[in-house]
Amino acid sequence: MGSNFIHHILTAYPNYKVINLDKLTYAGNLENLKNVENNPNYTFVKGDIAKSEDVEKAVGEGVDVIINYAAETHVDRSILDPKAFLFTDIIGTYTLLEAVRAGKAKKLIQISTDEVFGMVRSMNEEFTEQSRFDPSSPYSASKAGGDHLCAAYWRTYQTPVIITHSCNFYGPNQYPEKLIPLAVTNLLEEKKVPVYGKGEQFREWIFTEDHCRAIDAILHNGQIGEVYNIGTRQRSKNIDTIKLILKLLSKDESQIEYVKDRAGHDFGYAVNPDKLMNELGWQPQVKFEEGLKQTVNWYKNNENWWKKIKSGDYLEYYKKQYKER
Ligand code: DAU
Repeated sequence: MGSNFIHHILTAYPNYKVINLDKLTYAGNLENLKNVENNPNYTFVKGDIAKSEDVEKAVGEGVDVIINYAAETHVDRSILDPKAFLFTDIIGTYTLLEAVRAGKAKKLIQISTDEVFGMVRSMNEEFTEQSRFDPSSPYSASKAGGDHLCAAYWRTYQTPVIITHSCNFYGPNQYPEKLIPLAVTNLLEEKKVPVYGKGEQFREWIFTEDHCRAIDAILHNGQIGEVYNIGTRQRSKNIDTIKLILKLLSKDESQIEYVKDRAGHDFGYAVNPDKLMNELGWQPQVKFEEGLKQTVNWYKNNENWWKKIKSGDYLEYYKKQYKER
């Protein structure tokens, strides 16, 4: 998501300067930004948002805005081992907030998730910006911790922050641990798709570019101290999502492998995006079926990108997650 947003900003605003601070953990990949490497408006700094000296190095004398895309994000990994999530998602957010409080940035935009609200039981219920936090996994609890800190800093110190809660992203360059890229790449490798439980759970999906446009709108017109939900109302049961992917790749349902359900698995996420739509005029532009088609084509045309990833440490994780549970 971060690299897609950097592309979006450098293209849409040729006079903006972007500094990318990234620890380059397992999902970080400089290849995603290879074509802007020599852009004079782009600087890369390797470092950790949870270390104040790294944040200071990146912001230097000061910047206009810090947009916090840096996070440990994968629920299953947080169930296997929560520790890294606490450092990046909580201490990392704290460190960025301190930089803003010290005047090193005019505002912080916290990229967060709808998962902090827990789950809904039907597609007709929706999370609003006022919904109570009720996180289920170590991942969503750590994001909730970071978001609580943002809200507390605003209330206590008037540190300028804006918080966003988005539904599930999908699109090009997504690390193949998430449902959609995992399914697509497994099928391209003639492997089965692991579906947790019976696949009855549902998610709400936003195409990468629509999310970039939402953050663009919030960056330019969002109100300090406000919270914005980012959602599309495009909701799909996991099993239906998998069937759409199977169809796009001309595969049949024998490619589905039902596996043990995720512990604490949230049944559904559904976001009410009315505030973002009504106040900032944002609308999603990409329909789920269309975005899925583009995504499948991207993975088909970029085998080198994901084949490199699906080796070494990735295979170790895959074994732990899918074979040894
Ligand atoms: O709601 C936004 C969130 O969406 C983000 O905050 C998270 O960072 C992101 O990881 C995502 O969380 P999910 O748990 O919904 O995403 P994931 O792709 O892991 O799973 C989507 C659904 O598919 C979920 O119900 C679990 C299921 N699933 C997932 C995997 C990886 C399977 O059935 N099989 C799988 O192998």
